[in-house]
Amino acid sequence: MHAVQFVSTLVLVSCHQALAQSCSGFNATNGPNGPTYTSVDGSRIISKGANCPSTKDCEVEYGGYVTAGRTINISDSSYADSVFKTISSAVHLEFTEVDTYPVSNGTMGFQNGASGYVVFTPYTICTTGRLSGCDADELNGEIVQACTPDLSTLGGRISGRIGPVTIVGDDLKWLTCNPANTTQAKNGNASNSCTGTEDETDHTGTASGLGEVSLLLLSGSLLVAFVGF
Ligand SMILES: *[C@@H]1O[C@H](CO)[C@@H](O)[C@H](O)[C@H]1NC(C)=O
Ligand SMILES: *[C@@H]1O[C@H](CO)[C@@H](O)[C@H](O)[C@H]1NC(C)=O
Ligand SMILES: *[C@@H]1O[C@H](CO)[C@@H](O)[C@H](O)[C@H]1NC(C)=O
Ligand SMILES: *[C@@H]1O[C@H](CO)[C@@H](O)[C@H](O)[C@H]1NC(C)=O
Ligand SMILES: *[C@@H]1O[C@H](CO)[C@@H](O)[C@H](O)[C@H]1NC(C)=O
Repeated sequence: MHAVQFVSTLVLVSCHQALAQSCSGFNATNGPNGPTYTSVDGSRIISKGANCPSTKDCEVEYGGYVTAGRTINISDSSYADSVFKTISSAVHLEFTEVDTYPVSNGTMGFQNGASGYVVFTPYTICTTGRLSGCDADELNGEIVQACTPDLSTLGGRISGRIGPVTIVGDDLKWLTCNPANTTQAKNGNASNSCTGTEDETDHTGTASGLGEVSLLLLSGSLLVAFVGF
């Protein structure tokens, strides 16, 4: 008796997974350049903190690894995979799964008396539109925005802008090494702070109580406002 119940539960579960969780339609909102447009993802820190002496300019090296991938703000994330496919065929945009990429390196100068660090802000290609033909009624009519990192230039490198963020009244003790240049960042688990000395090859970026991703995105939006490109 128990065995029979167990089997029928399994059958139900697999039917549910096979039949549900897709939307057949996506009606994109057209902008001046058609259904897709360029946007940006949250900024990532790609240097250690620079604290220039009050009498002397200073510079800091930047570079390292950033992790990025497709995003969608659908209210039921179990639909995400199949909805990416629907949107992809509707607007001819390929959505790239999360991956880790090297970013360009170099040095950035800061003025005497200034503190700051360098950020990389990935460019994304996005589309916004309305879902239809969904197996879940509550998703029909939902407006979603789907984005993917812009890999169209630089031969598979991720494109984005690199810029300085100047900070007032913070000695950047939470950024004594480059969080994008750690073993952890190389393995796709970057943090937005890094403490330790620069020449340790295996710093563990330190994270606070917030989840790493939300911390990253939160600072991302703040940084964009600060940098003001
Ligand atoms: C798509 O949306 C536009 C306006 O948002 C509407 O005029 C059009 O009828 C829709 N197309 C389909 C196929 O639903
Ligand atoms: C990355 O780390 C290596 C080894 O610790 C160091 O030599 C290099 O200067 C660092 N580069 C950047 C951009 O932080
Ligand atoms: C940038 O990376 C290249 C190759 O890894 C290295 O030769 C060069 O010294 C780096 N430049 C800086 C400023 O870190
Ligand atoms: C997703 O983002 C778009 C664009 O910002 C917004 O119009 C839409 O309401 C959002 N949808 C959900 C489900 O949060
Ligand atoms: C990512 O880093 C955090 C904090 O350093 C750690 O707790 C977590 O286990 C790491 N996750 C993975 C998948 O390595």
